[in-house]
Parts: sequence; structure tokens; C-alpha cells
Amino acid sequence: MSPLSVLDLPQLYTKPSAKALLDTLALLTSAPSSWDYNADPDTKDGLDLDTQGEVERVQIDSEGVARYLTSIVSNSLKWIPDEEVKEEIWNQASLRLSERSGRTAMGDLNRRFTIPTRDGSFELNIHEPALTGDDLGLKTWAASYLLAKRLHLFDLIPPGQRDKARVLELGSGTGLVGLAMAGLGADVVLTDLPSIYTNLARNAKTNASIVEQNRGIIRTGVLDWTSPHSCTLFPEDVVDTNGDGDALSEKFPLILAADSLYSPDHPQMLVNTIAAWLSEDVDSKVIVEFPYRAAYLPEIASFRKQMTMIGLQILNEGEEKGFDDWGDASKDEDALVTCWWSCWGKNLPGQDS
Ligand SMILES: C[S@@+](CC[C@H](N)C(=O)[O-])C[C@H]1O[C@@H](n2cnc3c(N)ncnc32)[C@H](O)[C@@H]1O
Repeated sequence: MSPLSVLDLPQLYTKPSAKALLDTLALLTSAPSSWDYNADPDTKDGLDLDTQGEVERVQIDSEGVARYLTSIVSNSLKWIPDEEVKEEIWNQASLRLSERSGRTAMGDLNRRFTIPTRDGSFELNIHEPALTGDDLGLKTWAASYLLAKRLHLFDLIPPGQRDKARVLELGSGTGLVGLAMAGLGADVVLTDLPSIYTNLARNAKTNASIVEQNRGIIRTGVLDWTSPHSCTLFPEDVVDTNGDGDALSEKFPLILAADSLYSPDHPQMLVNTIAAWLSEDVDSKVIVEFPYRAAYLPEIASFRKQMTMIGLQILNEGEEKGFDDWGDASKDEDALVTCWWSCWGKNLPGQDS
């Protein structure tokens, strides 16, 4: 079906009904209906914005849409008698405009993510504050949702195992990967920089009951890869990093990280941090997932090289596609990212690397 033109939408000079305008504004949502990339466009699952319900997606040519939305925002809508309904129309038009300016212009939001398990699924609620400056960890990235959905396939928690799998996540951001791992029944420490900590701790608190129900444990802390040997954990009810925390001392048989390589320093810093916290067990593992962003391909190559230099080898790897919703998410293909996942283990004597 060819896309509709903005001229096919209800024009204000015809004094369209409030319902016609609200229905049109729902059609113009540019949030992706799903973060799941699926070759079958009829299969939907995944992203659910708190602020809106499911809407059927209709292709609308983006030419002139911003002008159309601006005309609604600046029109007095005199023919609509109900003041509250008018407010709602202006509000929805403003939201559509900010979505079109990209995620950076949007306010805070809550996303619900469905995480598959061996025999079902559970839901996580993730808060993303309005984005400010360079704090990339305040948004949930495609690689983290892909990895969160992949975790159950690694058989990291064999059924009937008495001791919980102990896991450290580096650069947790909003916490989706670490919380998913805890929701699968692991004992997880989620970490990031101080500026990201408050939102990370908030998301840990929000999802504490589903994690507990699934027999997992979560702790949160600050671990800056520039000081790779030091990690401070804060009590559950502390959502800032001003008070006293406890130094983490244990090492971990499993380390996770998603979308952590976007500066030339990152590969070395991340690998040093992995080396500092990975336990000596022969079956210790590191599982990472990174998007292939053209500007950062050398970082991925450097990460691979440096992981082998600390005695790790790839046990399993693959590629998959997911969505980042930066920019104009209405052009879904633009938001599509190919990500590389890999599971690393110890390079034992006598094995080829
Ligand atoms: C692109 S975000 C990815 C966040 C999350 N893993 C995801 O995929 O949604 C990169 C994360 O790495 C964190 N990070 C960057 N430099 C770091 C450092 N020196 N120490 C610890 N975390 C760092 C950022 O704060 C941010 O949360």
C-alpha cells in the first residue's frame, strides 16, 4: 500500500471532529511499535510506551507532517467545545512533534520489556529519564534488549542448581540486561558510573518483586572502568552515591556487558575491568553484545584482540538485528542495528585460541 499524504489527513479548515483529530494523532505516532526485528511484519511484541496504547501503523509520508502538527498546536480549535478534549489534542500533537525530533527531545518514559525464559516469560519495567547531555546510560539500547532476550539460551542457570549463579554487569545503563539475568534466577550486581546510578537503582527497586518472585537477587553499585579494581555497592534504599557504600570484593564467574564500546579508550578499559573481576574458575564466562556502528568497528576489533590477550577465547558468537530508537523512528529501517553477541571462556592450556 502506498503511504498516505499529509493532505489525506483531516484538514483544520474542514473543522474535523475531536475524535477524527485524536485518531489521526494516534496514527502519526513515530515510536516503533516493536523493538523486535522480525522478518514477518505481522508478528509484534516488545516495546510498550506507558503514554499510549497499541495503534495500528499506517504508512504516512513524513513530508509536511511536522507542519501539520504545528498547525494543530497553534490552532484555537474553536469548533471543539470541550476544553479538556482540546487540551488532549494539543498535548498529543506536541508529543508527536517531540517524537519526530528524536529521543533526545522526548521527556522521561517507562518501557515494558518481555523477557523470555526457558518455559515462559516475565516483564520488566524500565524507566528512562529525559535525556541530558552525554549520559548514554539513561536510555536502553538495542543490544541490551537483544542480549536480555538471548540470556536464557546460554543455560547459565541449570535447573535444580542450589547455589545461585553470581553475575556482574558492567555499564548497566538502565539495567535491562542485569535485571533480566536476575529475573532468570541469578544473583546479579549491576554497575555503572555515578551519573547513571540513581536511575539504575530506581529500576532495580521497581523490578525487585518480579526478581524476588523468580528467586533472583539484585545489588547495584558504582564501577568506573577507569578505576577497574574498585566497585562500591549501595544499600537498596539509597538512590544516590553521596552516602557510604560497601566495597565489593568477590570475583564473578560470569560478566555481562551490552553496547559498551564507543570511544577508542573503551576496549582497553573494559577488558582491564573484565580481567579484574572475572573469577579464576576454568568455566568462567563473559557474554557481551555490541552494535556494529560504522564509527566504532575498530573498537570491536580491538576488544576482540585484547580479550584474547587476557587468555579468553570465543566459545560461541553470532549476529542479530534490533532497533535503537534515536532520530526519526518512523523510518524503521534507519533505526535497525545489526549487533554482534559473543560468549567468551578461558583459553585452557593445550587448546587452540
Ligand atoms: C551506550 S550505553 C549502554 C547502556 C546499556 N548497557 C544498554 O545497552 O542499554 C554505555 C554505558 O556504558 C557506561 N560507561 C561508559 N563509560 C564507562 C566507564 N568508564 N565506567 C563505567 N561505565 C561506563 C555508560 O554510563 C553507559 O551506561
